Amino acid sequence: MYQSKIKGLGKYVPDNIVTNEDLSKIMETSDEWIVERTGIKERRHIDKKSDDTTAVMGKKAAMQAIERSGVDKDDIDLIVFATLSPDYYFPGCGVQIQDMLSIHTCPAIDVRNQCSGYVYALSIADQFIKTGMYKNILVIGSENHSGGLDMTTRGRSVSVIFGDGAGAAVVGRSENEGQGILSTHLHSQGEFAEELALIGPSTNHWVPEIIKENPQENIPYFPYMNGQLVFKNAVVRFSEVIMEGLQKNNLEVSDLDMLIPHQANLRIAQFIQKKFKLNDDQVYNNIQRYGNTTAASIPIALTEAWEEGKIKEGDHVVLAAFGSGFTWASAILKW
Ligand code: UT7
Repeated sequence: MYQSKIKGLGKYVPDNIVTNEDLSKIMETSDEWIVERTGIKERRHIDKKSDDTTAVMGKKAAMQAIERSGVDKDDIDLIVFATLSPDYYFPGCGVQIQDMLSIHTCPAIDVRNQCSGYVYALSIADQFIKTGMYKNILVIGSENHSGGLDMTTRGRSVSVIFGDGAGAAVVGRSENEGQGILSTHLHSQGEFAEELALIGPSTNHWVPEIIKENPQENIPYFPYMNGQLVFKNAVVRFSEVIMEGLQKNNLEVSDLDMLIPHQANLRIAQFIQKKFKLNDDQVYNNIQRYGNTTAASIPIALTEAWEEGKIKEGDHVVLAAFGSGFTWASAILKW
């Protein structure tokens, strides 16, 4: 059995900054409300005149991760792409990356686990490395939320939260025993599928049918979120899945050097920080600047924490996510 390790990290966010003030000009909201409830000050939205899409942003993050990993792109054996906002209904973005980076005809898997998507994707990569089937895997999380949000007062409880961006990692074989991905833990609870969802378009809700049935209101092809239910479940599941990962590796909370929570809401991260009695240096947050970028949030935050020198060799790093599905997941890493 081999052990897997993150060999290179990359990120990309569009230049276009959208502040809370900007949003308050197009819907009934305020900087005060958004900061108080979510911690978000600004987020990035794709400039519609640029060539950025979910796949293109993923490619940009991937190129940086590949370069930093020292792995030749021709030695990538597998692409795993996590997103809830693909460029096409099908095929998924993974195959676009294979083409955009001119990688040989390697397999490409698309993961659809929303906010937990990146940890699911990392877990898939980890299994393929462990078995020895593949040596180098490109794991990407990318989201273009701004292309599909209801930017009116009707959609404000969702649309002020989400932002665009991408993060990526090259996962390969660890040369040092005990260093790398120690374990991953994945969960789902489909009874809450519709509590945070974009129902259509889908095979059950096709566009002409939606428009006919909902000429004005309750349009189900914008995301819906039962915010309070999601919040209540998030704080419970985040805590559970972090503890599950630590216990699996005989680690205590005091062994944790850096927690990278999915950037869902600063209040959720602060709740977890307080519950586990972690200090500010042990939890990385950047939701203030990027909003919630769903599958991209963990790899963007991990990349920034690493770039800022906040993760050092030998550190125990915990990635934890919760979101639509409901799904939740964690990964325990020794850096
Ligand atoms: O990443 C996936 C996981 N996602 C999460 O974990 C998100 C979890 N949930 C949350 O973070 C919070 O529930 C939200 C930030 C989404 C909402 O905060 P809340 O404190 O639960 O607010 P609420 O939805 O209960 O709304 C409170 C009030 C309502 O007005 P009334 O009915 O009290 O008059 C809303 O209409 O705030 C109003 N409201 C807004 N006001 C200004 C909702 N959105 C906005 C807005 N600006 N953007």
